[in-house]
Amino acid sequence: MVKRPTRLRRSQTIRQLVKETRLHMDQIIYPVFVVDGKNIKEEIPSMKGQYHYSVDRLLEDIDTLWNFGIHSLLVFATTEHKSVNGKSGAQANGLVQKAIRGIKEKKPQMTVIADVCLCTYKEDGHCCIFREDMEIDRIKTLDVLSQIALSYAEAGVDMVAPSDMMDGRVAAIRESLDAQKYEHVGILAYSAKYASAFYGPFREAAHSAPAFGDRKMYQMDPANQREALKEIQLDIEEGADIVMVKPAMAYLDIIHAASEQVETPIAAYQVSGEFAMLRQAVDTGILDQRAVYESLLAIRRSGATIIITYFAKELQGILDKEAGL
Ligand code: PBG
Repeated sequence: MVKRPTRLRRSQTIRQLVKETRLHMDQIIYPVFVVDGKNIKEEIPSMKGQYHYSVDRLLEDIDTLWNFGIHSLLVFATTEHKSVNGKSGAQANGLVQKAIRGIKEKKPQMTVIADVCLCTYKEDGHCCIFREDMEIDRIKTLDVLSQIALSYAEAGVDMVAPSDMMDGRVAAIRESLDAQKYEHVGILAYSAKYASAFYGPFREAAHSAPAFGDRKMYQMDPANQREALKEIQLDIEEGADIVMVKPAMAYLDIIHAASEQVETPIAAYQVSGEFAMLRQAVDTGILDQRAVYESLLAIRRSGATIIITYFAKELQGILDKEAGL
């Protein structure tokens, strides 16, 4: 019998019928940047359409974001309240804590996830505390990370997202949360986080570029796949509820390999550099906006359940267009 695959591509409705991969706003997380102060909504120069929000202005936009179909936020702080060891991140009345409380009050249905790391809070911009001999002080680092996670939990966060890549941090955070009756607070672990050049625009946005050296001592080597599977496995054993691969587009093989091996939901982070590249190409007319859809579809197809993307605000419109609506 002659095979004619094109029969299933004849019309939009037939194509929709046989579509193997779908994107849905329910599985999208939108990252937001909060800053100190009041009445601030400033576009981040390296990330068009993304803003530095003071908490009051973010709250003003919450309904709009919700109406775009965004039901989960990942909160980042860009704060000038820094300290030597990052402990300023654990203040009950800190910036992220205020944002969490505000969002939860205004829109309780919104899932609020908050990034847990030392780099935004430490004067040297590193994700860990160093000993005098410049080795990582793991115990001290885990202690501060746990304190920050706990203060987010007290503010009402749904999940904490440790992005530091320190060994054992998921277990340490899980233990601290459980000890303080925060068993219901989830952990979305940045499990396979690569030392990537694609974070450039974010570091500008978060003012978190390291003051010396780089992050290769703790973030993963882009050359490694098997190591990613080990990191993911470890985080699951330590209690991660969701594991993440980051960046996404240049790491589809990692997402795919992980999805074949683990049952835990996998999130993929389409990071600032990936966003900036596509944004620029679409805005200058080099690429059609459909390239955005295609990039997210590929991330999904490779095995990610959840996608964290700066394109979240315009995605529903893109999906409607793709469906021919
Ligand atoms: C902080 C953190 C980074 C990102 C998320 N959390 C930057 C980094 O590790 O340097 C990157 C996000 C993006 O590029 O969109 N550890």
